[in-house]
Amino acid sequence: MKTFQLWLVVGGCLISLLAPAPRNAVGADAKPTIKEIMQTAHKKPKELLKKVATGAATDAEKAELVKLYQALAALRPARGDTASWEEKTKSLLSAARAAAEGKPDAAAELNRVANCAACHKAHQ
Ligand code: HEC
Repeated sequence: MKTFQLWLVVGGCLISLLAPAPRNAVGADAKPTIKEIMQTAHKKPKELLKKVATGAATDAEKAELVKLYQALAALRPARGDTASWEEKTKSLLSAARAAAEGKPDAAAELNRVANCAACHKAHQ
């Protein structure tokens, strides 16, 4: 059993060596930082959030926002408590998913939950 587990680890390492993550896009990067996610998803004037919330985003852009929020929810900020962070990032993720699925009220919901000031006050 131990040997088997060791081989799984070795195999996993080999696979990750053979397939390096593409580094050109934040969404494709395995582990973007909170800062990078903010820059792609929220920083004006080309923020992905606004594109998705106004209905101007392509399907690929909607999927990228979902991916970024998934990564954001898995990260931990330097400040603030975990429960607050989880609650805020989960709301963002489910609103972005609803937008990607084309739910009618998704844009309004996304704008409501993407409360920049509230989250920055608690976690930035
Ligand atoms: C779920 C919480 C959360 C929400 C919502 C949020 N932010 Fe942030 N933001 C952060 C945290 C945490 C940082 C600090 C990241 C760091 O420096 O490590 C940050 C940093 C930033 C930065 C600085 C990035 C840099 O280059 O240093 C910008 C710009 C930014 N946010 C814009 C926005 C805007 C605009 C919105 C609203 C549309 C927003 N954020 C919503 C958590 C959030």
